[in-house]
Amino acid sequence: MPAMAVVGADGGGGKLTGQVLICSIIAAFGGLMFGYDIGISGGVTSMDDFLIKFFPSVYVKKHRAKQNNYCKFNDQYLQLFTSSLYLAAIVASLIASFVCKKVGRKPTMQAASVFFLVGAIINASARDLAMLIIGRLLLGAGVGFGNQAVPLFISEIAPANYRGGLNICFQLLITVGILIANIINYGTSRLHPNGWRVSLGGAAVPAIALLIGSLTIVETPTSLIERGKLDEGLRALKRIRGTDSVDTEYEEILHATEMAKKAEGSFRSLAKPSSRPQLICGTIIQIFQQFTGINVIMFYAPVLFQTMGFGSDASLLSAVVTGLINVASTFIAIFTVDRCGRKVLLIEAAIQMLVAQCTMGITLAIHLKSTNEIPNGYALFVVFLVSFFVAGFAWSWGPLGWLIPSEIYPLETRSAGFFFAVGMNMLCTFIIAQVFLTMLCTMRSATFFFFSAWIVVMGCFATFMLPETKGIPIDEMNERVWKKHWFWKKYFKDEDDNQKVGF
Ligand code: BGC
Repeated sequence: MPAMAVVGADGGGGKLTGQVLICSIIAAFGGLMFGYDIGISGGVTSMDDFLIKFFPSVYVKKHRAKQNNYCKFNDQYLQLFTSSLYLAAIVASLIASFVCKKVGRKPTMQAASVFFLVGAIINASARDLAMLIIGRLLLGAGVGFGNQAVPLFISEIAPANYRGGLNICFQLLITVGILIANIINYGTSRLHPNGWRVSLGGAAVPAIALLIGSLTIVETPTSLIERGKLDEGLRALKRIRGTDSVDTEYEEILHATEMAKKAEGSFRSLAKPSSRPQLICGTIIQIFQQFTGINVIMFYAPVLFQTMGFGSDASLLSAVVTGLINVASTFIAIFTVDRCGRKVLLIEAAIQMLVAQCTMGITLAIHLKSTNEIPNGYALFVVFLVSFFVAGFAWSWGPLGWLIPSEIYPLETRSAGFFFAVGMNMLCTFIIAQVFLTMLCTMRSATFFFFSAWIVVMGCFATFMLPETKGIPIDEMNERVWKKHWFWKKYFKDEDDNQKVGF
């Protein structure tokens, strides 16, 4: 093991300075853009003014007497409105993975805010479906760039012992964005006929905040050093650590960049057996994150609550309540992730989410038939279950879906590997956004058992396959985590002769 790798154990564990805190919070505004978008589209797609203008057939269906409860909102175009953003985000995050490496984390974040801003303006002034979709594609580009750069940025500037908590600021602002969007929707649903324009245009605010904020933050020392700007990198490191004694950490980053230079290129290095553990774990955690079914709730909570017979006001209000719980529970993750570790949160929450999804499925199966209204008490019980589910997600799979992939890769594959996490998140979000309303219409309450099955699988994965990464400096993961794991260590047995290892 190289000497530098050991010393980093404390070098990377340094203290939390105001610089790091401020830079992390500013970068996390990327999460606010992402969250705002997640929260806004569900509410907008249940507004009558919006439906009449862009989706008149859905409007008619929604108000038709005796319409099947589970199928009120089933419309491919309506789903495309929500999900088109995620398709654009996949392509964008691939491009962003190169930009991040070649140009830096900070300019990638700035580009994200510009895309998002333009998308918000086009959406707010949309006159037809085409404009609406173009706006969404630009928002998607913003989300792809932002989600690629922000978690990496935070994980790189954070001292090891605070990395989890700081990185989760990104998720915290996602949840705040969702909540603000829900509150705005609650207000704008009363503004006829253009309330939806205010909702969609509001996306400009977090974009402007990120744009202005990102002019003031430092680039990560790792990114500067990686691009040959050694002096600048050293200065940035001193600035964020608040001290001149950064030699150990500087050497460690230098060593990591030298290793990265020897590698054959990020994507090629990712194909090696020794990259498989990180690639599998970092990507699968995002598949699992989405197949908890979280975005069914985030996108369609108002729709779901209307399906249960709540009026549109009550539906949006219930979505605000779940949004508040989402924010509050994320704080629990911030304060526990670096103390209790990642695994314990993931496993506890899997059990909690499983109970919530199964009970929800059973309640709806018994009480919500095609054409009745669910009795009031049960509808409230479902709101409680949704909140219980959201709380579990918010202190586990939500933030850790972003944190873990951003901290487990060595420098040479970090940006490329993280692309797989972001891309997978977007792809799975797209799939869920695109098919959920159809699933609800055809599978009805069984939809919730489908997600329950996924939760069982992910709980087992977290228990047996995922290593603990708490407190380990980011550039020492291979030595101290992967090479010691009962299963994954076989991929490192003989790095020079790694072809021997079968997968
Ligand atoms: C997920 C989003 C989700 C949000 C909910 C994020 O971590 O990636 O898909 O909507 O959490 O808070």
